[in-house]
Amino acid sequence: MKVTVVGAGAVGASCAEYIAIKNFASEVVLLDIKEGYAEGKAMDLMQTASLNGFDTEITGTTGDYSKTANSDIAVITSGIPRKPGMTREELIGINAGIVKTVASSLLEHSPNVILIVVSNPMDTMTYLVHKTTNLPKNKIIGMGGALDSARFKYRLAEALGAPISDIDGMVIGGHSDTGMVPLASHAARNSVKVSEFLSEDRLKQVVEDTKVGGATLTKLLGTSAWYAPGAAVSSLVQAIACDQNKMFPCSTLLEGEYGLDDICIGVPVLLGKNGIESIVEIDLSDAEKSKMQESAVGVRNTNGLLEL
Ligand code: LAC
Repeated sequence: MKVTVVGAGAVGASCAEYIAIKNFASEVVLLDIKEGYAEGKAMDLMQTASLNGFDTEITGTTGDYSKTANSDIAVITSGIPRKPGMTREELIGINAGIVKTVASSLLEHSPNVILIVVSNPMDTMTYLVHKTTNLPKNKIIGMGGALDSARFKYRLAEALGAPISDIDGMVIGGHSDTGMVPLASHAARNSVKVSEFLSEDRLKQVVEDTKVGGATLTKLLGTSAWYAPGAAVSSLVQAIACDQNKMFPCSTLLEGEYGLDDICIGVPVLLGKNGIESIVEIDLSDAEKSKMQESAVGVRNTNGLLEL
């Protein structure tokens, strides 16, 4: 199993690190355009192998896509991250050009690759990859919901004073401060709905804190987060590499599901060896349905800024 991670910045490097630590891939190639940077990150990570007990071989390259040839899965993290006060949507001008070039360079050397898009604005970048490559829709996956759901669970655990392993919850919709739809009515502590334990106001607060999860970290760190994004990507890569048939909310091309068409947005999917094995349609409350529609309007507005 060969995995390429494009962009050796904080998210890309942490993604490579978590993939290696989980020890399911034989090879990870890190690619960056900054001279020597990916090579350096790869060497540093390889020097953790004996300490962390993994056998994954991590190599780095400065822009040489031939080194990524025959990748099974490739993760696109390249582009600029947001600075405090910026929305993810504001990154579109620079990141669209980068993501388009990266996707076509990857496909030149790995025509059968499964692509995971992380660069922001992620739903629009995922849509861009659909519009500019010939890859079938199951092979284009946007990573946002897995991260947002992890943040939702963190906030739920905090509100409940419970261990995170007790908590189950999912965030669908667009990966943006206003577009996320945390499914509070479905969230549970050991199958008991969290609404049994939390007041309506406290639950509302959890939802709001979840939606600005990325922005909160960007303010604290001066740039966007990397540990949880990296871990979330590694979980998607593992689900595909190990054919787990595992459910995650991911951005995928919808063709009528959830009443939406010609848009990439976060919905629950099953991930296995073919990438997206299927889209899972769940019953949403009327309020959740209308939030999903609003979220789609936001994503479509950003898609409208693409020069296709
Ligand atoms: C975040 C970025 C990765 O939410 O979108 O932290």
